[in-house]
Amino acid sequence: VELLQGIATTRAIRRFSSAPIPEQDLNRILFAASRAPSGTNRQPYRFVVLRDGPTPQAAKDLLAESFAEAWATKSAEEGYEEATPMSPRGRLGSAIQHLIDHFREVPVVVLVCTTPRHHSLIDGASVYPACQNLLLAARGLGYGGVLTGWHLAVERELKSLCGIPDDVVIAATIPLGVPKGSHGPLRRRPLRELVFEGQWGTSAPWAEDPQGTRFTA
Ligand SMILES: Cc1cc2nc3c(=O)[nH]c(=O)nc-3n(C[C@H](O)[C@H](O)[C@H](O)COP(=O)(O)O)c2cc1C
Repeated sequence: VELLQGIATTRAIRRFSSAPIPEQDLNRILFAASRAPSGTNRQPYRFVVLRDGPTPQAAKDLLAESFAEAWATKSAEEGYEEATPMSPRGRLGSAIQHLIDHFREVPVVVLVCTTPRHHSLIDGASVYPACQNLLLAARGLGYGGVLTGWHLAVERELKSLCGIPDDVVIAATIPLGVPKGSHGPLRRRPLRELVFEGQWGTSAPWAEDPQGTRFTA
C-alpha cells in the first residue's frame, strides 16, 4: 500500500476473522510502532502483546467485561441505542457491539504502555504516534485494528495480572487481526474547516480535499 494511500484508508477495524497474525508479521508491525518519534527520543512506549495462554486470555476476559460496561454507559448516554441501523451512528454502534461480543476471540490485543514524565497531555505525544504507526503497518500488511481506551476501568487489575509496573500507564488497547470486510476511504471534515492560514478562522484557499472525497455528516 502506497504511504499516502494507506494513511487515507486506515479505518478503525472492529470485526476480525479468526485468522492468526504470524509472528513474522507481528514483528514487522511492532518494529514500525517502535520507529515512532518521542520527546528527546526517549521511547517511553512499551507493548504488551496478548495472544494465547492463561494470562493473556484472562486479560482479554477482563477487557471484554470492561468494554461491555463502558459501551453500555456510552451507548445509552449518547443515544446510540435509538440510531437507525444504516445511519453512520447505527453502523458505528453495531461495529462496536460486534467487537465487544467477540473481544475474547480477537487474535492479538496490544496494550500500548508508557511511563509518564510530565503528567500532562504532552506525555501522550510520545506514545500515540507509535499507536498510529502500529495501525498503519498493520494496514500495510493486510491487517486492521482500532485504538481504544476502554481498559481504564480495569487498568489496575490488568496491570497486576500482566505484571505492569506501578509507574507505567496503559495508553491504549489495540485489538488486531485480519479484517472481516475491508479498509476504505476515511470520512472526515472538509480540510477548509481544519486548516487556517495565518490566523485562526481564516481558511487556507489552497487547502482542498481531493476530488471525490466524502465527508462526515
Ligand atoms: C483517543 C481515541 C480513543 C478511542 N477509543 C475507542 C474506544 O474505546 N472504542 C472504540 O471502539 N473505538 C475507539 N476509538 C476509535 C475511534 O472511534 C475511531 O478512530 C474514529 O471513529 C474514526 O474511525 P475511522 O478512522 O474508521 O473513520 C478511539 C480513537 C481514539 C483516537
